[in-house]
Amino acid sequence: MSSQSALSGHLSISTDGTSKRLHQGSTDSSPNLIVETNSLSLDDLKSRFLDPSLLTFTTNAHDGTVQSYNIELFKSSSLPADVFDSCFDLLEANMSVAYKATTRGWNPRKKKEEMKHPAMRYLVLTVVSGDNQPQGSSFVGFLEFMITEEEGSEVIYTYELDILPAYQKLGLGKRLLDVAEEFGRRVGVEKAMLTVFESNKGARRFYEREGYDLDEISPEPKVLRNGTIKPPTYHILSKAFWADETGDEEDEEEDEED
Ligand SMILES: CC(C)(COP(=O)(O)OP(=O)(O)OC[C@H]1O[C@@H](n2cnc3c(N)ncnc32)[C@H](O)[C@@H]1OP(=O)(O)O)[C@@H](O)C(=O)NCCC(=O)NCCS
Repeated sequence: MSSQSALSGHLSISTDGTSKRLHQGSTDSSPNLIVETNSLSLDDLKSRFLDPSLLTFTTNAHDGTVQSYNIELFKSSSLPADVFDSCFDLLEANMSVAYKATTRGWNPRKKKEEMKHPAMRYLVLTVVSGDNQPQGSSFVGFLEFMITEEEGSEVIYTYELDILPAYQKLGLGKRLLDVAEEFGRRVGVEKAMLTVFESNKGARRFYEREGYDLDEISPEPKVLRNGTIKPPTYHILSKAFWADETGDEEDEEEDEED
């Protein structure tokens, strides 16, 4: 999984999650959803935008044993240092090779800087220890997201989604994505967005199963002089939240014209 900023030059995001463009170009005097959401306390974010029924659950491990999981929301500023390190280490283990294959490469310092952006939010997944294990819970994966603006749209942008290899293909990535999408719906943004490397075919298939399609701003393939088609090194995918309502409105307008 790659990040919005690393690949689409979105480092102009201000500390409240809006882009420079929005600050400079917006003449809208209505309250800004992004600024308002990103200024809320962690407790407000949890009570207003998390669906509690999705946060604790059990599922069968690959060996058939039942395991209990928990998902917790953090702001970048409230993420404990050891959890930050677990997130970064897992990201590096899962994705640094894919990053290195792109023109921007893998830059740990810049990635950490991006991960500490004040508007960055984390959903951290832990597995709760069973009776015959030491008390507590251990880190299994995370989803890093931001409520932000992309090409004039208010969106929830997933920057990273990573699950420990031993815990993949158990439905856990889908669960983190479900929690983030519900968060975005409750905030009231238009759509969920993310970036996926061309080389990461498995992840792309996973997102397509979850309802994501190529976004209109995703880079186009290049046609070389000899006619060869060269795919872009990454794709921007999105999932609209309010597609039905928009469709209905269009139908109604067409009906009125008739
Ligand atoms: C991509 C990733 C986040 C998906 O998370 P995950 O927890 O493995 O995903 P899920 O288990 O929810 O679904 C993955 C697949 O397992 C299947 N699956 C889900 N539950 C399953 C189960 N109990 N048994 C067998 N298969 C299962 C799903 O059908 C899905 O199939 P698909 O790959 O054909 O779409 C994870 O594999 C990962 O961390 N990969 C490395 C990092 C990465 O590529 N991140 C994304 C960058 S854009």
